[in-house]
Amino acid sequence: MRKRIVAGNWKMNLDHREGARLAGEILGGLKNRVPQCEVVVMPPFTSLHAVGEALRGSSVSLGAQDLWHEESGAFTGEVSAGMISAAGCRYVLVGHSERRHILGEGRDLLSKKLRAALKGGLSPIYCVGELIEEREAGRAEETVSRQVEEVLGGLDAVGMSKVAIAYEPVWAIGTGKTATTGDASGMHGVIRDLLSKLFGRGTAGETPILYGGSVKPDNARALLSADDIDGALVGGASLASDSFLGIVFPT
Ligand code: 13P
Repeated sequence: MRKRIVAGNWKMNLDHREGARLAGEILGGLKNRVPQCEVVVMPPFTSLHAVGEALRGSSVSLGAQDLWHEESGAFTGEVSAGMISAAGCRYVLVGHSERRHILGEGRDLLSKKLRAALKGGLSPIYCVGELIEEREAGRAEETVSRQVEEVLGGLDAVGMSKVAIAYEPVWAIGTGKTATTGDASGMHGVIRDLLSKLFGRGTAGETPILYGGSVKPDNARALLSADDIDGALVGGASLASDSFLGIVFPT
């Protein structure tokens, strides 16, 4: 059975004290309850150590929001896969829409980052998603398929077995608008069919595909029970334990 993941992307929020406190609250909410998914939190780099300490010995995994693809050297301000892994992370985001559209990251850089993450022993969560203009022009599937193929194409089965994908329509991020369950599920099916073509049915069937974009406790159940949706990548609602736990345990 393929893995299910609910990951909280804290973005540029919470310092290390606030982060450690939130991690403690999340652990409190998980006491005596077994989630149907792996729970992951992705704080800013400066909070990884403190949050990792707060989570030590628990079932909650740590992830980073970005990495640089070189192993070390003169890359001021950047952080390598090895450093992220040594800080206790299992996961790292690659290709989040804010990095694509605010920081201008594209295919070549994202391919290098994704491969560096794998080489450094991390599991990348590779983010894809169309702009509103692309959706309105009927090009959503084409855009997402291109994003998947241009970065993941060429990976071998071992590499691909470590990758999760997050479909995050850009127009749904931080806007309160969510893709309908049908639209999200449909796009996840398109992605899975493409993975099947690229890597074979076995690998495609094992790859978790998460949905992201205004996931909240009140829409989590419908989204997370839809076909081909294997979890959620949560922004705003991951910043408070009540709302995050309401997605981990959707009602
Ligand atoms: P929101 O949940 O705030 O829409 O953010 C989604 C996201 O970008 C997660 O990576």
